[in-house]
Amino acid sequence: MQIRMRRLRRTAALRRLVSEVAVSPSDLVLPLFIREGLDEPRAIGSLPGVVQHSRDSLRKAVVEAVQAGVGGVMLFGVPETRDAVGSGGIDPGGVLNRAIRDVIAEVGDSTVVMSDLCLDEFTSHGHCGVLRSDGTVDNDETLKVYGEMALAQAAAGAHLLGPSGMMDGQIGYVREVLDQHGHADAGLLAYAVKFASAFYGPFREAVESQLDGDRRSYQQDPSRVSEALREARLDVSEGADLVMVKPGLPYLDVISAVAAEVDVPVAAYQVSGEYAMVEAAAERGWIDRDAVMLETLTSLRRAGAQIILSYWAVPAARLLRERY
Ligand code: PBG
Repeated sequence: MQIRMRRLRRTAALRRLVSEVAVSPSDLVLPLFIREGLDEPRAIGSLPGVVQHSRDSLRKAVVEAVQAGVGGVMLFGVPETRDAVGSGGIDPGGVLNRAIRDVIAEVGDSTVVMSDLCLDEFTSHGHCGVLRSDGTVDNDETLKVYGEMALAQAAAGAHLLGPSGMMDGQIGYVREVLDQHGHADAGLLAYAVKFASAFYGPFREAVESQLDGDRRSYQQDPSRVSEALREARLDVSEGADLVMVKPGLPYLDVISAVAAEVDVPVAAYQVSGEYAMVEAAAERGWIDRDAVMLETLTSLRRAGAQIILSYWAVPAARLLRERY
């Protein structure tokens, strides 16, 4: 036997020398929830270790994330009251826009501040857009609201806006509105490829969503990769600065195909259900949480995600710093 594959696996140093991808803390983005009207952070049952933040605790959490070395934060607002058109997302004093201002005041340009640009957290019916009288989501009317939300978020100082509602033309529309109103510097992290996934379950608890029905008329069918590539190409042509694939682990093939297709940075979102599954199994002692956490992040990176949104961003960044 002249070839022995095990030679390069013999010591940790050899394995490290030949490793092909590494996750660094700055690749990780921490999603954060800010809930209007809270004095203290509130636990989210299906996301152990993740909370709905108060104004104060949000600022502290962002400082902690920056100190851990993460690359950025993605902010989601949870309003106290909702209406049919999601006005809370447009109001400069609304929970999310105020949170962006708070965070920028606290950490400035020392991290990347991103904001979710979508209506589902702000609408009483829980859909990502405004509804027609027959209950279907009105694409083009929704774009107008996204445009106004984008202006409010850019004015509040967000570095990157994350349109996640899967309306057709949302990237081109929002880009144009931003440019026309003096916000040419605000970047767009396009949720270009977002599947209609059951893995978003715990997120719905986190944002107290009261969705009736499902999102299959605007989010993608899990069976299709050609459509995902087309969405990614379209978003890049409409001006996306980065594109994201979501969820992460069940869609590694899609991440890999998208990364080969486009020439902008590719992000993956390790969503709430992916996190919850591992946390639940680890709590029962069935798997090693830290090992699984690092393995999943490495796999997402290997598939082609340069950036990973993960609820583990802070503990993962700390572990990565200790180990390497
Ligand atoms: C939409 C949005 C969702 C998630 C991120 N942005 C919910 C949805 O599309 O139903 C889910 C993220 C997660 O599950 O962690 N604003």
